[in-house]
Amino acid sequence: MTTANGLQDLFLTALQEIYHGEKQILRALPIMAKSAGSSELKRAFEHHADQTEGQIGRLQRVFELMHKTARGKTCEAMAALIEDSKDVMSQVISNEAMDAGLSAAAQAVEHYEIARYGTLCAWARQLGLKEAAHLLGQTLREEKQTDEILNKIALGAINRKAA
Ligand SMILES: [Fe+2]
Repeated sequence: MTTANGLQDLFLTALQEIYHGEKQILRALPIMAKSAGSSELKRAFEHHADQTEGQIGRLQRVFELMHKTARGKTCEAMAALIEDSKDVMSQVISNEAMDAGLSAAAQAVEHYEIARYGTLCAWARQLGLKEAAHLLGQTLREEKQTDEILNKIALGAINRKAA
């Protein structure tokens, strides 16, 4: 059986991993924006970079609420997903294919983040960390919105191509 302390440890580790992941994403997004062919996708990446700064701030606040130092821990899964976007950018392909590859890679990152923030949010509630749950819920909503925006951009490109 999981004790309250056990769950708190899991929560802290997941928090450190997403903190590390967000910092990696913050570094990757401007590069992805530069590589994007369409101005729409460029803007989406730039906008999410701004959001990510805010999300990092929220995570720092959650660490503070737990009286812990904000510290990152490498998350192999996230590192691999970000690596995928670098693989796309290293290819010599058309603008269209680059955008399709980049938005797919970005959506994979978003889906992973949605899973992690969903878990963090649920655990925060279980641990009675109300303010933390609220902050993590705000970020969860932003990640879902970003995923939807990327979806629309991808579908728009497909529809334009079909027309
Ligand atoms: Fe994020």
